[in-house]
Amino acid sequence: MKNIYISTPVYYVNGNPHIGHAYTTVVADFLKRYFEQRGHRCFLLTGTDEHGKKILRSSQQKNQDVVNFVENNVTNFKKLWSMLNINYSVFTRTTNKKHEEMVKEVFSFLYKAEEIYQGNYEGFYCVKCEDFFTKNFSTDNQNCMNCSGSLQFLNEEVFFLKITNKRKWIVNLYRNNPALLIPEKIKNELFNNFIDNDLSDLCVSRKKNGWGIKTPVSPEQEIYVWFDALLSYLSGFKQLELKSQEKDFWNSESIKIQIIGKEISRFHGLYWPILLNLLNKPLPNVILAHDWILFQGEKMSKSKGNIVDPVLLISKYGADALRFFLLKEITISKGGKYSEELLVDCINNNLVNEFGNLFSRTIQMIIKYNDGIIPESDSESEDTAHMKKITLNNRKKVETLWENYFFSKGINELLAFIRDINKIIEDQKPWTLFKTNNKAKLNNLLNLLSNCLLYVGWMFRPVLVNSWKKVCEKLGIQDENLDNMNVENFDFLSNKKVKRTNHLFERIND
Ligand code: MSP
Repeated sequence: MKNIYISTPVYYVNGNPHIGHAYTTVVADFLKRYFEQRGHRCFLLTGTDEHGKKILRSSQQKNQDVVNFVENNVTNFKKLWSMLNINYSVFTRTTNKKHEEMVKEVFSFLYKAEEIYQGNYEGFYCVKCEDFFTKNFSTDNQNCMNCSGSLQFLNEEVFFLKITNKRKWIVNLYRNNPALLIPEKIKNELFNNFIDNDLSDLCVSRKKNGWGIKTPVSPEQEIYVWFDALLSYLSGFKQLELKSQEKDFWNSESIKIQIIGKEISRFHGLYWPILLNLLNKPLPNVILAHDWILFQGEKMSKSKGNIVDPVLLISKYGADALRFFLLKEITISKGGKYSEELLVDCINNNLVNEFGNLFSRTIQMIIKYNDGIIPESDSESEDTAHMKKITLNNRKKVETLWENYFFSKGINELLAFIRDINKIIEDQKPWTLFKTNNKAKLNNLLNLLSNCLLYVGWMFRPVLVNSWKKVCEKLGIQDENLDNMNVENFDFLSNKKVKRTNHLFERIND
């Protein structure tokens, strides 16, 4: 058993969450459920990034007091996570007192250690991304290379965190931990654009604007939002009653997986490890930087306004459908497209026609051919040996893919398994076995099919959280907390009484 820490970014609360945020959070929740199902202990951190000019400006544009504005948006994030069945361990907030205290302490500590020093910043700043750009790096047309928004030119007295003198350390870190930042292409970009090219010290303060944590050194300066936000990954522990969590989940033995979108990989792949090292804390094992969801050909983002509201989608299609779509259609290394049509196709083709149909078909046969009772298996038969073999092989394949963050490929393997089972039904023709009174073969087949349903349902459980309950109900199982052993034990379902209930998934007709 391992202790596994999983985090999402802490999201800006300048508006409502969209399906981009939902994607990262579903990936994180999926991993938590996947590892827990296999006996590990997991801690999932998510939360909100609430300070800074970007948020202040958004509240002003809406003519709202910033505190209320932030509170409202935090409520919307929490509501969405609850609708999406996100089982987080802590929802950390950068306006939480414990967090603010910690950020100030870290700032003071680094200032005293002379890792933070005062200087003059002359260069560009993007408020939308809350990002500094050195003169070298700013684009010719003075637009942000990330969001294309306009850049401000700043000339301010600020504090800097020493980064340039850590170059060697960073290079060695990646030499010894080549998989710290994945996918590889994102790591290469970090090296090409920054570590090997344009490495400069990081501004860690801004002129006071009234919505941030004041630096403990100068009250005219507020701590830069990224310095503030990155520390949430640790301060989240302090916002909980249970004090042992940090010791259990952020230590050198625990596995720490941090999931982010690729646009923030510099903060996570460069500044965050440096910060942790300065604080003498262990580093994450993996920073998983995924590509984006595109909508109408562009990155979905609040500032562009081309956003899709996940709350509406969940109300219309259910949480499982959205979780399934995101994990199947969007990949870590390539991202993917969203459209309602694609979502509906996914529901109708994969969930209804493939998974749902195999289920209804099997349950109907058990009702028709054996009064709804799942027969015992014939452990001597070749069919049983074959089915066990293909199930175990499939499981190995899917687990290897998922543990290497190929979520979509793993789902596709499970769908291929469903198709194989359908083919077995076509080949073995249970209706003929029934007519010709070949009871022994028929019963064994019905047993094997129901065990395959259980296997598929169980494997999909970290994705299709609500449907798992229906799977158990249909197969007549009380205990929804099945462990590994039971799934591989093909006698587990013998003599259970199946139930004909509503379809597992409802077809969407337009
Ligand atoms: N507050 C910072 C993160 C600080 S972490 C210490 C921030 N917030 S954000 O609200 O802009 O959220 C960015 C994250 O949301 C991305 O890194 C990604 O995880 C998710 N997504 C936002 N838009 C996305 C897409 N269009 N597609 C997929 N995920 C994206 O940056």
